[in-house]
Amino acid sequence: MSPVRMIAIDGPAAAGKSTLAQRLADELGILYFDTGVMYRAVTLAALWHEVPIDDEEAVTEIARCLPIDVRPPTVQDDRKYDVLMGGEDVTWAIRSPEVDAHVSQVSMYMGVRQAMTQRQREIGLRGDVVMVGRDIGTVVLPEADLKIYLDASTEERAQRRYLESQEMGEEESLEEILDSLRMRDELDSTRDLAPLRAAPDAIVLDTTSLNADQVFERVIALAQA
Ligand code: CDP
Repeated sequence: MSPVRMIAIDGPAAAGKSTLAQRLADELGILYFDTGVMYRAVTLAALWHEVPIDDEEAVTEIARCLPIDVRPPTVQDDRKYDVLMGGEDVTWAIRSPEVDAHVSQVSMYMGVRQAMTQRQREIGLRGDVVMVGRDIGTVVLPEADLKIYLDASTEERAQRRYLESQEMGEEESLEEILDSLRMRDELDSTRDLAPLRAAPDAIVLDTTSLNADQVFERVIALAQA
């Protein structure tokens, strides 16, 4: 059994965090928890209920009440888990360009962050977890045994996301993806609350010229050291 039981992975959009976390969790036999899913689900619920994203109070109310559940996958379509919102399968709906366009604004609201962080911390503190997000090493689980901050150039990240979206048969252009990533990175790293940032004790890994296997090999070595 590995000595590391609580791993925090942070970094900007499409840096390869989910791919790495999934492999680490499989290898170590521990839980993979992607916190971005929760912010995405709140955003989707606000859009579906036609709540204006600028209405902080109404969006926060959704965040407090929304029944979000993440479970092992029940459908074989490349998903890593099922995301359920009030029993409805929203695994792919939370990845839409519309959610991408609004999720960073939703994530700025204090009440939203409080509700999400509390639930994430409860899950993280049980241990045996790889938790992924923007503020895991700094705010959600500062006591994590291993903190990784994954980065890559914006162009490389946009290219990776573009290839993924092509595989899913989506029609977003590389330019649209690049613009959307830039906007989210800007909002996520300049917000007052829990901004995207490497914790002082995080290991920063620039993956621009590394493939997924190389990133995994480096981090698993750290986890098992
Ligand atoms: O997969 P990708 O890196 O594109 O994004 P994600 O991890 O699904 O996160 C979506 C958005 O949720 C981010 O752009 C942040 O605005 C927000 N987020 C956050 O504020 N804090 C977290 N711990 C995780 C996500």
